[in-house]
Amino acid sequence: MKKQFLALILAVLPAFALAQAALEYPNDPVAIDLSDKAALQDGARTFANYCMGCHSAQYQRYERVAKDLGIPEGLMLENLVFTGAKIGEHMKIGMRPQDAKVWFGAAPPDLTLVARVRGNDWLYTYLRTFYEDPARPWGVNNKVFANVGMPNVLAGLQGRQVLGCKQVQVVEHGKKQYDPLTGTPITQEACDQLTIVPNSGSQTAAEFDETIKNLVTFLAYSANPVKLESQRIGVYVLLYLAFFFVFAYLLKREYWKDVH
Ligand code: HEC
Repeated sequence: MKKQFLALILAVLPAFALAQAALEYPNDPVAIDLSDKAALQDGARTFANYCMGCHSAQYQRYERVAKDLGIPEGLMLENLVFTGAKIGEHMKIGMRPQDAKVWFGAAPPDLTLVARVRGNDWLYTYLRTFYEDPARPWGVNNKVFANVGMPNVLAGLQGRQVLGCKQVQVVEHGKKQYDPLTGTPITQEACDQLTIVPNSGSQTAAEFDETIKNLVTFLAYSANPVKLESQRIGVYVLLYLAFFFVFAYLLKREYWKDVH
């Protein structure tokens, strides 16, 4: 009996997993380029201006960021350092976690490594899917982080995003559905769709996506500042191995010549 019960549980487990997957909001994929200095600089600027009021990046130093991103120190201090910190200091903030917890219900976590924890696609989706929800303390909710404690700090750029009704293409078993006779997409009205109230933000949808992509690029760099360097060194290591292989092979042939 016990065994049968166990077998039953094991048999229905995948069904639960599927139900879970269907409920989750899918992440929008983003292709970032860590060698794009302009994108990194733009992302750093957005981070300093819009995020560092609440979030620190305390395992990172301003000096290192300035050097890696090709920002002159003077410009860095003038445009990206608002806490009066010196260039050699870590990117800490003044807000105390215990105060933040009272204000937001949760302390804003340090973001130095968040790209490793959450992944780039999740961040890209999270930052673009805040929507108005009067039931929440800050009047906003989020598609991938339900009942989030963070206010929508980028609403001024993106505009007011609300849930509205839209005609969307029907998707079954992961496939978009088309009318077999006419070949036109089959649509139905769905009322939990993200829509921007026209002209309510200072950026267009495409510009805002770019801003967030650059911000995610910066967060990805911050989570692994040596990645570019290791890739460069990795290429040299492989080249060296390929080069060395030729000599090792010739040497081996030389040694074994007399043995055969
Ligand atoms: C007004 C304060 C505030 C500002 C400004 C702010 N955040 Fe937040 N953020 C929070 C709070 C509070 C949380 C914790 C939410 C929770 O746990 O419910 C949070 C959570 C997050 C998380 C989720 C972390 C995790 O893994 O759980 C990310 C990512 C994030 N913020 C990114 C940003 C970025 C990027 C910016 C700048 C565009 C920003 N935040 C600006 C308050 C803020």
